[in-house]
Amino acid sequence: IPVEPFDLVVFGATGDLAERKLLPALYQRQRAGQFSEPTRIIGTSRSELTDEQYRSFAREAINAHVANGEIDAKELERFLARISYVSADATKGRGMEELKAAIGTSQSVRAFYLAVAPSLFGAIVKAIDEYGLATPTSRVIVEKPIGRSLETAQEVNRAVGSSFDEARIFRIDHYLGKETVQNLMVLRFANALYEPLWNSAHIDHVQITVAETVGLEGRASYYDKAGALRDMVQNHILQLLCLVAMEVPASLDADAVRDEKLKVLRALKPINASNAERLTVRGQYRAGASAGGAVKGYLEELDGGVSDTETFVAIKAEIANWRWAGVPFYIRTGKRMAARVSEIVIQFKPIPHSIFDDQAGRIVANQLVIRLQPDEGVKQWIMIKDPGPGGMRLRHVPLDMSFAESFGVRNPDAYERLIMDVIRGNQTLFMRRDEVEAAWRWIDPILAAWEERGQTVQAYTAGTWGPSAAIALIERDGRTWHESV
Ligand code: BG6
Repeated sequence: IPVEPFDLVVFGATGDLAERKLLPALYQRQRAGQFSEPTRIIGTSRSELTDEQYRSFAREAINAHVANGEIDAKELERFLARISYVSADATKGRGMEELKAAIGTSQSVRAFYLAVAPSLFGAIVKAIDEYGLATPTSRVIVEKPIGRSLETAQEVNRAVGSSFDEARIFRIDHYLGKETVQNLMVLRFANALYEPLWNSAHIDHVQITVAETVGLEGRASYYDKAGALRDMVQNHILQLLCLVAMEVPASLDADAVRDEKLKVLRALKPINASNAERLTVRGQYRAGASAGGAVKGYLEELDGGVSDTETFVAIKAEIANWRWAGVPFYIRTGKRMAARVSEIVIQFKPIPHSIFDDQAGRIVANQLVIRLQPDEGVKQWIMIKDPGPGGMRLRHVPLDMSFAESFGVRNPDAYERLIMDVIRGNQTLFMRRDEVEAAWRWIDPILAAWEERGQTVQAYTAGTWGPSAAIALIERDGRTWHESV
């Protein structure tokens, strides 16, 4: 269904995010026929480019980041025709009058995408205000890192909030735009089967794994100051945890969903200097083999620098509320791991009593494995009888739903959904200010504890599942990480 006409003004239009994600996503929406006339995309950045030069940049971005078979020459031309460019520097006021003129007085929905470093958010929203670029319904889109601590996140939120009220601020966590992440809500709330079991009476524990095979990818200056806890856990992983753990919202209304997520964040048991060594593991990769080839260690990637930044983190988290008391949520994420895989494992409790005497040892507790990427799918592991007359032999098998096999359609990129939601004015898949801040409120004491207790990183070889301490973290409790591959 087409969305109403819009003007999308992209600050940082020549940057990495615009090139790799925004332009390809917008092109895909063009191809899907989702734009109405007169939709426009106005790129702006400090580089001096003509419209034509920026269109070439966009063409190259699409050629590089959209699969060959999905490039339709006609649609690409139509898409490029929507694009114009203004060179401007909001921090100095340069080019802002030109930008204002380019936007004009159009009545379309107006959205400003701040695809720039968060340190520039404040100056840009101020300039948007000063030059009168926004209409009362204009929206602003921002993205992580929203701060590097509670305090700095509050500063960013305050700066953006000084010109836009909360209902017009769209904070992207691109994990919420992933098909399989949205599917989590459908799985939980469109099936009667799971909800009665979705609590500490029936669930033994939950695992959330987001493993990557990539290393630093030229982002050393950002990553080395962030580390895995800030880069992945504060946002993506806590969002996943919220979707798994939250109460059933009254509706899909943005605030109904976000209220429930907020309650989960607030119920997370604090991890601080008294327990961080027991509940968290930090890792950093050493040289090894990943994705089929030899790769450097983290420090070598930093050009021989010295660094205690974690490229891996594992945490045993707990949620102190009625539903989840005593159910550990084991989370782990890292770079240069054995495989690229993101998944959520719901481990149910074992049956209370077996009537299959000689087979008792073969009965494995049910497990629900939600594979977020790649090979998106859902597997519900159950026990069945092995066919044949040889007596009651039991076997653990999956009821297996693969998105690719079941639907065989292209899995749209998260940004396609999210940008269209901004135009529709739907904030359900965006983070509210208090959510971001509540997440930092849980993260900050972990960072402080690491510092205070001198909890340094433990080495792991690139291409493995992280330091042995991460395996010990779960095995100490008599459990094991799900074997993802
Ligand atoms: C980003 C992180 O937010 O998410 C990156 O900054 C990480 O370090 C990326 O690689 C992972 O996203 P995806 O969509 O590839 O799982």
